[in-house]
Amino acid sequence: MSMLVTRNALRAQVRPAFARTFASSQASQAQSLKERLEELIPKEIENVKSVREKYGSKSFGENTVDQMYGGMRGLKGLIWEGSVLDAEEGIRFRGLTIPECQKQLPTAPGGSEPLPEGLFWLLLTGEVPTKEQVDVLSQEWAARAEIPKFVEELIDRCPNTLHPMSQFSLAVTALNHDSAFAKAYSNGVHKREYWKTTFEDSMDLIAKLPNVAGRIFRNVFGDGKLPAIDQNKDYSANLAHLLGYGDNEKFVELMRLYITIHSDHEGGNVSAHTGHLVGSALSDPFLSYAAALNGLAGPLHGLANQEVLRWVQKMRSQIGENASDEQVSEYVWSTLKGGQVVPGYGHAVLRKTDPRYTAQREFALKHLPDDPLFKLVGQIYKLVPDILLKAGKAKNPWPNVDAHSGVLLTYYGLHQQDFYTVLFGVSRAFGVVSQLIWDRALGMPLERPKSFSTAHIKKMFEGK
Ligand SMILES: CC(C)(COP(=O)(O)OP(=O)(O)OC[C@H]1O[C@@H](n2cnc3c(N)ncnc32)[C@H](O)[C@@H]1OP(=O)(O)O)[C@@H](O)C(=O)NCCC(=O)NCCS
Repeated sequence: MSMLVTRNALRAQVRPAFARTFASSQASQAQSLKERLEELIPKEIENVKSVREKYGSKSFGENTVDQMYGGMRGLKGLIWEGSVLDAEEGIRFRGLTIPECQKQLPTAPGGSEPLPEGLFWLLLTGEVPTKEQVDVLSQEWAARAEIPKFVEELIDRCPNTLHPMSQFSLAVTALNHDSAFAKAYSNGVHKREYWKTTFEDSMDLIAKLPNVAGRIFRNVFGDGKLPAIDQNKDYSANLAHLLGYGDNEKFVELMRLYITIHSDHEGGNVSAHTGHLVGSALSDPFLSYAAALNGLAGPLHGLANQEVLRWVQKMRSQIGENASDEQVSEYVWSTLKGGQVVPGYGHAVLRKTDPRYTAQREFALKHLPDDPLFKLVGQIYKLVPDILLKAGKAKNPWPNVDAHSGVLLTYYGLHQQDFYTVLFGVSRAFGVVSQLIWDRALGMPLERPKSFSTAHIKKMFEGK
């Protein structure tokens, strides 16, 4: 009883009325994610304390001048709880590979892909949730999905020529207007409590992304009319619905897989690291994630999914359908000789085919085995690694996640490439905000590594 009183008092502090009504009606059915976190956080604080006491002075090895000039590759300097990336094996979310997530996380009735709600629970707690817990999360996100009128108007006023990612970042920045964390901070909340409002903002952020993304999509590529969120549907079904694909169950399944596999890729990638860095200044989750989105919008990171499809379609327009291996190889070489990268290939950490690519390839083999564009992507997969190896520069000649996503989206009719990175951005929020919540729960400090000038480095080492 007293636990319930505490829960309700906590909810009353930070939730809008509609979410409060929803939460109290659900409270008796399943333990909420916030309640589970409340139990886990004190234990994890002790765990981190003991790790630091035991291993705090252990070294990860030396830090070279080359690493400083080389984009800090291999430099070990971040804590990231949700996932760890192995160069050979790929990503594990809290210890689970993508195929393990596909097997263990709850699915929708009749579906076989994991519900991203379950992945979010896993990223935050390290535990596989029950279907009931996931359903509560779906309903809670649907209940929080509405965006303020002024944010709708802000999106509506953007010219269609403004890239969807820029519109996305603007809208997410503006959502900070209602940040519970920013409000609590200015009211002088104790730092021990930071995670609670960070959690509320994070839940709001994830919940509102389909409405933001859907509005941008309908404004730029449609008639600007957006249907309402369905309170009884899961997150991916609602996202698909807002984009106009809600009736296509296969597309909805694709969204479930897509959001799950794009959610998190440990902490050092540009979007994740940016979100964490900006959050370390105690910027709220909306400001932190908007910054992350601006990094995701770069062509060497998230924008690569848009670039891949452009590149493949340009190839097809130049060499036609059913091109020979020789023609495809020649096109790849011409890209390299033109001083451009082959988009969708290579990775800063991975040294094998990205399991996120494989998961999408398996989805395609199951649902669209005869699609000509999928066949071309398969042909490219057969040829590009050898070419990149012969070219001799890329450390990883294998495909990454972006090499496949555009083909799947195009197959179902979503051919608006400029929008692809927005979908990536909806998904990546799951990983970035999970870490932000833990950053605040663990009291992570302001991030501030040391830098040097070239002149200083010379002075340090010359003649030594
Ligand atoms: C992802 C990426 C940015 C990683 O960069 P990185 O860690 O610096 O990669 P490497 O250490 O292997 O790079 C060494 C060289 O190979 C080149 N290289 C790497 N991947 C390449 C690719 N797909 N095509 C052509 N050249 C490539 C790099 O540009 C670099 O050239 P440089 O020495 O002239 O600067 C890079 O592989 C790339 O640009 N890929 C294409 C874009 C892409 O798919 N991005 C999404 C990543 S998930």
